[in-house]
Amino acid sequence: MKKTMAISVLTVFALSIASSAFAGAVCPQPRKTASAPSNIASQDKTGSANAEKGKLIYTKKAKPMACKMCHGENGDGAGKLGKALKPAPRNFTCADTMKDVSPGQMFWIIKKGSKGTGMVAHGKTLKDNEIWDVVKYIRTTFVK
Ligand code: HEC
Repeated sequence: MKKTMAISVLTVFALSIASSAFAGAVCPQPRKTASAPSNIASQDKTGSANAEKGKLIYTKKAKPMACKMCHGENGDGAGKLGKALKPAPRNFTCADTMKDVSPGQMFWIIKKGSKGTGMVAHGKTLKDNEIWDVVKYIRTTFVK
């Protein structure tokens, strides 16, 4: 009896480690983030944006921390900090989830943040054109 108990405790423990390690790569992902106003969701200014500058923001410059800390180096939502978050950071490589996330939607949430999630507003630390740069980097690098 004791042994069975120990095994089941171990199994639950092992499963919870496995599920937290893969949490970021879940696809399709549940999505907690609200929709941007429709006149903003329909905007797309990535045409004239600079993906290289966006990459610097994503991997290094963003404050209070680089986007990759949560969204992952590979954009799969499995960054070091992201693993501890519920809801998990957006997995940009998940086409099923990203088909509903337009460039304007991304712009708005990066600027304003997503209430009730770990996604903070960057409107005070990034200029609008820098936000479009990072949207372009994410869409051209991770979104399939
Ligand atoms: C502290 C962790 C964290 C950091 C840092 C972070 N994010 Fe997020 N992000 C999240 C979480 C959590 C969500 C919400 C997921 C959900 O809706 O379920 C999110 C959502 C988003 C969305 C919304 C997508 C949608 O579904 O509408 C975008 C776009 C995004 N993040 C981009 C960025 C960018 C760009 C940066 C850096 C400037 C960044 N994030 C930094 C955790 C983070």
